[in-house]
Amino acid sequence: MADGPTTSPTATSGAARRRTVLITGAGGEIGHGLIDALHAEGGFDIVAMDLKELDGALRGRCAAAYTGDVTDAGALAKVFERHGFDVVHHLAALLSSSGERNPELAHAVNVQGTLNLLRLSNELARSRGRDVQFIFPSSIAVYGMPGLAAKSDIGAVHEDRCLNPITMYGVNKLACEHLGRYYADHYMRLSPDAPKGRVDFRCLRFPGIISAHTLPTGGTSDFAPEMIHAAAKGEPYACFVRPDTRIPFMTMPDAVRSLLTLAAAPKERLTTRVYNVGAFSPSAAEIADLVRAAFPAAEVSYKVTEARQAIVDSWPASVDDDHARRDWGWAPQHDLRAAFSEYLIPTIRKRYGA
Ligand code: SER
Repeated sequence: MADGPTTSPTATSGAARRRTVLITGAGGEIGHGLIDALHAEGGFDIVAMDLKELDGALRGRCAAAYTGDVTDAGALAKVFERHGFDVVHHLAALLSSSGERNPELAHAVNVQGTLNLLRLSNELARSRGRDVQFIFPSSIAVYGMPGLAAKSDIGAVHEDRCLNPITMYGVNKLACEHLGRYYADHYMRLSPDAPKGRVDFRCLRFPGIISAHTLPTGGTSDFAPEMIHAAAKGEPYACFVRPDTRIPFMTMPDAVRSLLTLAAAPKERLTTRVYNVGAFSPSAAEIADLVRAAFPAAEVSYKVTEARQAIVDSWPASVDDDHARRDWGWAPQHDLRAAFSEYLIPTIRKRYGA
């Protein structure tokens, strides 16, 4: 880890205890939204970590920022020695298309990186005698639908079904879900001493996420955000999946809200450690129609990349998120229409001056 804190943690004030939150992958898409939301809410000392230095605006919202790699266990340990984290949002990962280009690297970052953080969070919880919350974004990539006909027949997939991922990313996320459950519920069960503090592992399986502010890198659901941003910039876009391709999506504000709502949920309300969260499930053609309605000059064509198409075809058309709705009140603010009319289009227009 090259850099120490870039600023000092803010002093504690008032009656409510400030919570210290580690965010890995802080410079990524979700990291941007999460740092903004935690900063706006107040009461948190945010410690950010990313491979690259954070941009100035983000860094200004953090008590400390480190550049470093989650596979570097020694460097991570130093960060844990310096900060007593209450919550870890572990966002750092290689997405599905990047993972297929370099599967071993994806495994190292996505699984070994997560194991490093689970181990350190567990040690911290045990030494303090108090739980450390570990919030982990998993993905629809953990599913592997057995063919297009089954994908359409099954519809909204339940958390326990079709868990045969075909990407390294999906394999990694599923492995980490199990590792999280293990650390939370079964760690070293032969040990005679019952620990007072544990990892409180909570996990969301995200659909594709669309932000009006940032573009994803290396994902396979990227066709939706790419199509929208290209139209706003006045650039033609060749979509790499068929028009009838359907997977679930959600807006970035809803994704961030789901992370924070799950983190705030009383532990006794949670009946599982892994929750689907959904919002809307448009086909690529339906997204293109909404894009053309907002930007009549938009040029959207289709140039299918078979390998990426196969990945998206293996993901469910929609997810059954009843558990999240029932246990901690999950409800997206944006359905497909609201996502475009209230969030994406106005925000993106402003961003590109379109
Ligand atoms: N957005 C991710 C990807 O495309 C899936 O969760 O890899």
